[in-house]
Amino acid sequence: MDKILIVDDEPGICHSFKKILGRHDYDVITASSGEKAMELAGKELPDLVIMDINMPGMDGLETLKKLKTIHPALTAIIMTAFSTSEKAITAMKYGAYDYITKPVDNNQLVSLVEKAIAAGKMSIPVSFEGESEEGDTIIGRSTAMLEIFKKIGQVAKSDVAVLLCGETGTGKELIARAVYQHSKRANNPFLPVNCAAIPENLLESELFGHEKGAFTGADTKKIGKFEQCDGGTMFLDEIGDMPLPLQAKMLRVLQDGCIQRLGGSDTIKTDVRIIAATNKNLESLINTGKFRDDLYWRLNVVSITIPPLRERKEDIEDLINYFIRKFNREFGKEVKGISSEILQDFKKYDWPGNIRELQNAIQRGMVLCAGNYLSSKECEWLSQLRLTDRGESDIEKALSDAVNEHLRRGGKDIYKEAVSQFERLLVKRALELTNNNQALAAKLLGISRNTLREKMSRDDLHKE
Ligand SMILES: Nc1ncnc2c1ncn2[C@@H]1O[C@H](COP(=O)(O)OP(=O)(O)OP(=O)(O)O)[C@@H](O)[C@H]1O
Ligand SMILES: [Mg+2]
Repeated sequence: MDKILIVDDEPGICHSFKKILGRHDYDVITASSGEKAMELAGKELPDLVIMDINMPGMDGLETLKKLKTIHPALTAIIMTAFSTSEKAITAMKYGAYDYITKPVDNNQLVSLVEKAIAAGKMSIPVSFEGESEEGDTIIGRSTAMLEIFKKIGQVAKSDVAVLLCGETGTGKELIARAVYQHSKRANNPFLPVNCAAIPENLLESELFGHEKGAFTGADTKKIGKFEQCDGGTMFLDEIGDMPLPLQAKMLRVLQDGCIQRLGGSDTIKTDVRIIAATNKNLESLINTGKFRDDLYWRLNVVSITIPPLRERKEDIEDLINYFIRKFNREFGKEVKGISSEILQDFKKYDWPGNIRELQNAIQRGMVLCAGNYLSSKECEWLSQLRLTDRGESDIEKALSDAVNEHLRRGGKDIYKEAVSQFERLLVKRALELTNNNQALAAKLLGISRNTLREKMSRDDLHKE
């Protein structure tokens, strides 16, 4: 009979798990604290431990870590009432088999226990790597995000390449950093390189460096990012935009860790872990001959696909509260939350810019909000900028009428007049929305107070 140790400070949980699992012919023992679990695990050698994270005294993660050092082959499932990325990632990194959130569904529990015990019987002990520094918090309790947390914890330890796919603003860079922070390389450099932002002719020498005289303008020798990053982690952002000739060179680095500076003949060995990200569909780039499929397979040892926010709307409320806390600290405010009416609007909206767009919306609201809650009453801007499906092209359509009108009227200063009219209206509207609070208006527009004053005096807006 397989033996299961339940560890939870809530007697109710211990009792009900014992009943459910007992019915399925498991021998169930319980412990009410991490300390007691340590004791029992040594004596009873359970096949599986199911343990709560939040317990007074030694918490679940600490207990798991200790248990794993003494009994490396032990199979454990961690559970908690809250799902925070740090804990899920750490649990997986410490070698937990899986991670579940309370309240636990009985059928789910039984099937997970079966799987865990079967896996435990043929598993190779997972070694424990030691604590790394706390990273940024990744918010999410949707099934998709929990799976991502697990994956981060599982892949972080090894040096394999990771490919992150997801639309703009879904958190690719945040997740790349989490993988890095939980890896063995956490104390070595993390070097982001945006393949789309660096001009094609410079990207190669950025990455690989060059010798003096390698090309016109190469007056001195340059050490490239791969050499700088030796022992560290490189984050290759927008990898889909990497030019084809460079992709061939990348392939070589991934195969044998060797690079050559431009114009150089020495082969230099480097040890760099690659995390790549893209918001493009690499498979279709391969089909159109814009991306090498051999490079794709090298990068794609492990891939993590981050779903767009509209496919995990259950995360919206947690994200809103997280951003409100964040901007409270930043702006020295005490906003308590968001009105239910706006929350409904936010849940209906599709968020094409994903989490970045949501974060910006909350930031804008917080700058202007004078009350305790973000609501359409207190933040008039929210109802005015009512979330609609207007994209960039709609803004362009609206503006082109004004443009046509300027062109129709003619004059020698069309350009200057059109631009300054737009500026004037922008400043005027920002002042209206903030009840003439210049500091807030400047923040809303993303300009300094001095710049705002300058524009106001030029446009004679002081008297309004
Ligand atoms: N799950 C999350 N929890 C908290 N903050 C998040 C989360 N996901 C993203 N963010 C925040 O949203 C912003 C955008 O995230 P990030 O820059 O990682 O997106 P990205 O996928 O790299 O976007 P792009 O493709 O446009 O570069 C960042 O400020 C990030 O901190
Ligand atoms: Mg990014």
